[in-house]
Amino acid sequence: MSSMYKEPVYWDNRYEAERAVPGGYDWFGTYRDFAELVRREIRPGTRGLVLGCGNSSLSVDLHKEGVSPVVSIDYSPVCITEMARKHAGIPDMRWLVMDARQLTFPDGSFDLVIEKGTLDAMMVGERDPWRVSPDTISLVDQVLSEVSRVLSPTGCFISITFSAPHFRTRHYAQPAYGWSVSCDTYGRDFHYFLYTMRKGRELTTFDLERGRSLHAPPILPETLPTLAENDDEEFLKNIQI
Ligand SMILES: C[S@@+](CC[C@H](N)C(=O)[O-])C[C@H]1O[C@@H](n2cnc3c(N)ncnc32)[C@H](O)[C@@H]1O
Repeated sequence: MSSMYKEPVYWDNRYEAERAVPGGYDWFGTYRDFAELVRREIRPGTRGLVLGCGNSSLSVDLHKEGVSPVVSIDYSPVCITEMARKHAGIPDMRWLVMDARQLTFPDGSFDLVIEKGTLDAMMVGERDPWRVSPDTISLVDQVLSEVSRVLSPTGCFISITFSAPHFRTRHYAQPAYGWSVSCDTYGRDFHYFLYTMRKGRELTTFDLERGRSLHAPPILPETLPTLAENDDEEFLKNIQI
């Protein structure tokens, strides 16, 4: 992803251009690809919030699963105007222009919050996933703090991304959010990651350690022993391919 994805004007222009295209564009696959992983979190009466909905079908798919209401937010007014127009007849679906860093909902308003590619779009400026800048750490923390606040005490946050656990879990594994973290993958040739954060559950010792590493100086790969320096086992010579 290039850094232009961080700018609201990029998304406005993109959704303006896609206005005439039927359907929409779904980042990281469609609902069908990961439906089983989301269904396990849906109960009768689940109230849902989609962060950075774009023109994806995810909000409508959740509504079809029985999530009600489904509130979808995006900071692109063009996107929200178009999605509200397209889905005007569907009851219990709301489309709001809102920044994920500053949600205007009262505490505990939702049982399920879900985002797909929205946090990724916020992290695009980063050149090195091992050394995330303090600005981006703080930006992601603003969103996660808001998500934790609007979730009910037993609610669940699902985050769908291409970012692997060694880079992403440490952002989610902060005790302040009051949730546990688990990770599943989906996809055939290329795997995407679906993180599930459950409120009211404890982080594991391993995840707490990962969370602490977000603020600690990274152990950079170049400071670790390499095979060339420390190859006592000579295993490369013994591999029979
Ligand atoms: C990569 S797209 C993903 C769209 C959709 N979720 C999907 O799965 O196809 C990222 C979306 O996040 C929105 N977005 C980025 N930063 C945001 C923020 N701070 N608040 C609300 N929406 C944001 C963009 O406008 C864009 O629609």
